[in-house]
Amino acid sequence: MIRKLTLAALSALIITTGGAFASGGSDGHVENIRFSFDGPFGAYDQNQLQRGLQIYTEVCSACHGLKYVPLRTLSDLGYSDAQVRAYAAELEIFDAELDDFRPRLPTDHFPDSSLDNAPDLSLMAKARAGFHGPYGLGLNQFFKGMGGPEYIVALLTSYSGEEVEQAGSTFYENSIFPGGQIAMSAPLVGEDVEFADGHSNDLHHEAEDVAAFLMWAAEPKLSARKHVGFMGVFFLSILAVLLYLTNKRLWAPHKNRKED
Ligand code: HEC
Repeated sequence: MIRKLTLAALSALIITTGGAFASGGSDGHVENIRFSFDGPFGAYDQNQLQRGLQIYTEVCSACHGLKYVPLRTLSDLGYSDAQVRAYAAELEIFDAELDDFRPRLPTDHFPDSSLDNAPDLSLMAKARAGFHGPYGLGLNQFFKGMGGPEYIVALLTSYSGEEVEQAGSTFYENSIFPGGQIAMSAPLVGEDVEFADGHSNDLHHEAEDVAAFLMWAAEPKLSARKHVGFMGVFFLSILAVLLYLTNKRLWAPHKNRKED
């Protein structure tokens, strides 16, 4: 009886997970992407982050803010203090003390969203999940991560080009966005920016670069966290070996006594 039940439960699990994968298909499905920051030794690729910043600055910042990201952290991307200061100075901020606008300083944050219905992107790469299932097991997340950056890439590259008018607003068909219609028109179409390093600016590369940049914005200390995690596991492994040897040594006299 129990065996039958287990078999039934197992087959149900297989069918539902199979179904979940199948329902993904080509639309509504977020593909895993090999980012440089994946895996236990992953680290951000500074060049990619710089390209992502360029796309954010030239395209996304027209609507979206990054209000939780301090401008000084741009030094993580390999910029000098002077470059960070120059970037910050391009962005104005209202200073209540001066009762006037002034250029931003590296100690200020990126601006808020300038378009009311455009969400702030500071934490977006961690707020969205690209992978789900097999339901309840979290295996996909364990092997591929949460898929926030992958979701962003998929979102930016899944516009059908169709528009829908609804209650006086225009929505754009997008197979990744829940509901299939998003209020953001396709922000990238390919060749939207020119990269100084001559890197490809086709739609997919641009989407990956800006997604990597947004992942950095949401988790700037990812590499440090992975490093600490690895060192933790490393030392625990050594400790485990030492404890095993100590244990053997401590009990050795008692074990030998039996043989006497
Ligand atoms: C013209 C304004 C505009 C531009 C430019 C723009 N967006 Fe958006 N974006 C929006 C609006 C509006 C929404 C809210 C859409 C909705 O909720 O239907 C949005 C939503 C989003 C979301 C959230 C989707 C979700 O799951 O809730 C992401 C991610 C995003 N934009 C990324 C980007 C990136 C990356 C760029 C630059 C390449 C960009 N956007 C450029 C207006 C814009």
